[in-house]
Amino acid sequence: MELLIPRGTEILLRDLVQERTGIYYDQDKLSLLLEKLSPLVIDHGFHSFLDYYYLLKYDEHAADEWRLVIDAISVQETFFWREMDQVHALVDILLPKWAANRNGQSLRIWSAACATGEEPLTIAIALAQAGWFERIPIEIYGTDVSFAALNKARAGLFRDRAFRNLPSAVREKYFTKEGDAWRIDPQLHARVNWDRANLVNREDVARFAEAPFILCRNVFIYFSSDMIRRVVRTFADYIIDPAYLFVGISESLMKVSNDFELTDVGRAFVYQRRDFCD
Ligand SMILES: C[S@@+](CC[C@H](N)C(=O)[O-])C[C@H]1O[C@@H](n2cnc3c(N)ncnc32)[C@H](O)[C@@H]1O
Repeated sequence: MELLIPRGTEILLRDLVQERTGIYYDQDKLSLLLEKLSPLVIDHGFHSFLDYYYLLKYDEHAADEWRLVIDAISVQETFFWREMDQVHALVDILLPKWAANRNGQSLRIWSAACATGEEPLTIAIALAQAGWFERIPIEIYGTDVSFAALNKARAGLFRDRAFRNLPSAVREKYFTKEGDAWRIDPQLHARVNWDRANLVNREDVARFAEAPFILCRNVFIYFSSDMIRRVVRTFADYIIDPAYLFVGISESLMKVSNDFELTDVGRAFVYQRRDFCD
């Protein structure tokens, strides 16, 4: 079925999607956005994208529809042992410094766009290997905007693609083969608290941001500069001192924020709020 696109509808949809999710489609990617949304439009029996726009913006059941939109447009690509220099910097350099003189104070680590869970579980494995769980109470939060991604994270079952970077000895130690997938050690899995948080909502960020270590990796690549600026501003408003913010290696905050300063730790780059830097 050929769906109608009344003049300006793609811009209305693009801006609404950006406002609610942060995910931004450039002018030359607008047709891709419509392509991703069209099965949802057809499922409602609509003939026009404008009807779908009205549903998303005004319908009392729009929240359920947004779940589907997020799954249609978000990229949940992730894997174990991704960008490990940052994880080593956190576990082997910054954490010992943080824990010194804190008398066993509880530590929070927040993986703020955790997709299907490999990132916070990588942190949990690295902490287990270094013996940190026996030393201090640690809370790890894995949050994402996608309910579907979080359901997979909660299931704790992973397929081969997730292991492409993980040394096989580590996989043998912390995972058990189950059919054609691998189940993570339940005790390690239980170290992570899974929850939903949308980075564009200040109250969601405020709920988790009191963490000395925040990983927000490989999500800003899908946001516009303005939206990154807004989210980073929210981080700056709610984080505590000291706090370290990790973004993906292909991402940079330099052009969008003066609130954070880049420092190198081991072989990794980490952001700190400028006025908190030591
Ligand atoms: C490419 S994955 C990154 C996963 C992981 N951080 C990593 O680096 O491997 C991007 C994730 O960002 C999530 N995401 C997109 N917009 C978001 C938002 N507004 N708030 C929270 N998560 C979001 C997507 O659902 C997706 O799971």
